[in-house]
Amino acid sequence: MKGRILVVDDEAVIVRALVKYLEQEGYDVESAADGSEAIEKCKDKHFDLVLTDLSMPKVNGIELIREIKLLIPNICCVVMTAFGSIVSAVEAMKAGAFHYITKPFELEDVGHIIEKALEHSRLKEQNMILRRQVTTKYGFENIIGASDELAEVLNLVSRVADTDSTVLILGESGTGKELIARAIHYNSRRADRPLVPVNCGAIPENLLESELFGHVRGSFTGAVNSKRGRFEVASGGTIFLDEIGDMSLRLQVKILRVLQERKFEPVGSTKTVEVDVRIITATNQNLEKLVEKGGFREDLYYRLNVIPVTVPPLRQRISDIPILIDHFLRVYSEANDLPPPYLAEDTLSLFVNYRWPGNVRELENTIERLVVLHPGREITMTDLPEKFLEASGTVVKHTSFHIPESGISLKNVVDDFENTLILKALEKTGWNKNKAAHLLKLNRTTLVEKIKKKHLEKFVE
Ligand SMILES: Nc1ncnc2c1ncn2[C@@H]1O[C@H](COP(=O)(O)OP(=O)(O)OP(=O)(O)O)[C@@H](O)[C@H]1O
Ligand SMILES: [Mg+2]
Repeated sequence: MKGRILVVDDEAVIVRALVKYLEQEGYDVESAADGSEAIEKCKDKHFDLVLTDLSMPKVNGIELIREIKLLIPNICCVVMTAFGSIVSAVEAMKAGAFHYITKPFELEDVGHIIEKALEHSRLKEQNMILRRQVTTKYGFENIIGASDELAEVLNLVSRVADTDSTVLILGESGTGKELIARAIHYNSRRADRPLVPVNCGAIPENLLESELFGHVRGSFTGAVNSKRGRFEVASGGTIFLDEIGDMSLRLQVKILRVLQERKFEPVGSTKTVEVDVRIITATNQNLEKLVEKGGFREDLYYRLNVIPVTVPPLRQRISDIPILIDHFLRVYSEANDLPPPYLAEDTLSLFVNYRWPGNVRELENTIERLVVLHPGREITMTDLPEKFLEASGTVVKHTSFHIPESGISLKNVVDDFENTLILKALEKTGWNKNKAAHLLKLNRTTLVEKIKKKHLEKFVE
């Protein structure tokens, strides 16, 4: 079926002709003799398009369109008007009609307009779906967390998103800076224009200039064609300059000018290009220190630092960890079509206490690995990469001990472990037995006895 159409006209002859013709064209067609009948039909059934006469008794065409739009917001309306009644045609357009046809008309013309109108509304619908997908993909809903620290960041971000302010996103590697840049763009009025990311650290300096500003043919060896730079591609939208701290001082000057005047010249060109772009930058470097050392222009720093957004490292927002773990367990189980594993309690506490130098990215990679290696299973500490065990100290190393087939003496292992702990405490306190006993929550006499019995004195340096 090509679509369901409702034909509305008080002239029965016209209705009959239209219905017959449109049915031949492959549409599913119904008709109504006036506006109120049409409205009743719309309450019962979904129509893709309504083709209506303007002047009718009871409810006229314009009123009909207004009412129908309330019932079926994305319905397509086409009106038929008597020759010369342009004013009401304009009114009909304002009420939401897609097109009008003046009477008398050829049936083929009606068919043509209907086809165009339906195609137009399908495209519109598809666009809306795509837009919604993109927005959800990069919207705030995708930034997972439960901590006050993250909530504070997102609160700031949501307040600045729909402005044109320059934003500087600071934070360690893997904290989610790019995710935040995307959320800003897709929640701004520029959302349907491009977001163009440029990783300034990954592109060699001589290429970066032409990458950003474009070049004209022959401006350097290898420039066989002229090329538009990313600033021009981002026109009307947002440019995201990632790792801005890595940019050379020479290019920093050019960026400064774009910030001040929104103007630049492509490499090898004398023609000035003007652009309307919003600039978001990010870095994991300490820009202030870089300025002090002369590696970053102070004036540029102030221009970029209009709204600084600092994303705290994961270890400073540990209440995000459990919820991120759940999130990534789900994401990677679904992506790999595997049942999700689940964490033993001590595994979770290990994760919460770990430093996460690679932040959320490291957590994400860790969970992906666990999903793939241990689908549907309980994850205990022995399943974790060595670094977690090392980071959490001896205690954990011992609990992850494997019992060999040949068996093991509990007494020896426990003795051994006790020696290690006592020696560690003694070393830590410079062999002050009072302090060591305190650290181990023993009384001094017990500790002295143990040292003697275990012949630990010989370990004094
Ligand atoms: N709060 C979060 N919720 C869900 N996913 C997150 C969150 N924070 C980060 N991620 C994910 O972690 C990974 C790293 O994030 P992102 O690339 O945004 O970090 P970054 O700060 O730009 O890192 P780098 O400095 O290394 O470029 C991405 O896969 C991202 O989707
Ligand atoms: Mg990044």
